[in-house]
Amino acid sequence: MLIKRARAGDIRSSEITSETVFHERRQIIKAMGLGAVALGTPVVGGATSGERQFYTTQAPLSGPAWLQNKLKTLTPGQYSTRESATPFEYVSTYNNFYEFGTGKTDPADNSQNFVTDPWKVEVAGEAELTGTYNLEDIVNLHTLEERVYRLRCVEAWSMVVPWVGFPLANLLKRFKPNSNAKYVRFETLHDPEQMPAQGSRFAAIDYPYIEGLRIDEAMNELAFLAVGVYGNAMPNQNGAPIRLVVPWKYGFKSIKSIVKIEFTKRRPKTTWEISNSREYGFYANVNPDVDHPRWSQARERRLPTSIFSQNYVETLKFNGYAPLVAHLYKDMDLRKQY
Ligand code: MTE
Repeated sequence: MLIKRARAGDIRSSEITSETVFHERRQIIKAMGLGAVALGTPVVGGATSGERQFYTTQAPLSGPAWLQNKLKTLTPGQYSTRESATPFEYVSTYNNFYEFGTGKTDPADNSQNFVTDPWKVEVAGEAELTGTYNLEDIVNLHTLEERVYRLRCVEAWSMVVPWVGFPLANLLKRFKPNSNAKYVRFETLHDPEQMPAQGSRFAAIDYPYIEGLRIDEAMNELAFLAVGVYGNAMPNQNGAPIRLVVPWKYGFKSIKSIVKIEFTKRRPKTTWEISNSREYGFYANVNPDVDHPRWSQARERRLPTSIFSQNYVETLKFNGYAPLVAHLYKDMDLRKQY
């Protein structure tokens, strides 16, 4: 078992949750095959069966100098699946980032000149502290950790991605949200000059892309802000320079290239809900029992797939993270609040 030493300013998981629940959860996590175990030499590529791996990169470090320095201190995080990560070439070429086009390879093809440094993030709304900050100043407050999470898209494909980042809760708490802060709203950059689809008359969705979480969901230890993958800076097509990762929800909740985080009283209207509320709900918890109106959600194609094998796997409720998140929805009918 890896014991992560807390650094000054770093909120330990045991501080977020009561000690008893914390220890109970450790047991559940072990039983789920999640969690950090002692690691040997860092490796590149797939995991050997049953062992948790730390995915480093052989490529030169990319991104601004401050991020490269920070990446050198990357540590293995908690809650990582032991399933092998999807190879980098798939993670970085099979994407949804409609601002750069709706085809799966459009984001990689069209985002290479996207300028992500310098980058500012505004924190606004129902909190004691608000303001606009350089990304560097935000990231430097946190220890970067790697979390290998399953990513399940509402389109019924999935990947396993080694993200680099820090828990969303650790950032949100610094701004001291007040008792009116019931939700957190996230906004992607709006810049039609750089993001061609935003200026198109035929845009598939409204821009800027908006997402939201209930405050208790946002404070859950699994909700993560990622600034990289595979031990390196975030590729533009994956949502550089900073994106959300909510592993128990369909991928569309994991908003990319965030410029604004706002604590709100009311539930924000989110992009896909506005686009088609019958097909895409606010909660969007991964649920094999509730089909999309046009297809089943009972199983998923785990990338990489080939013409010889679609590589189907069963979809798990809350994408396999139920022991850590099911309590958030205990009084809700998830068929109605999908
Ligand atoms: N964020 C923005 N701003 N625009 C998008 O089109 N697509 C979402 C989500 N975040 C999207 C977004 C969807 S549908 C998915 S499945 C994931 O990003 C895909 O993340 P990936 O391309 O890194 O796999």
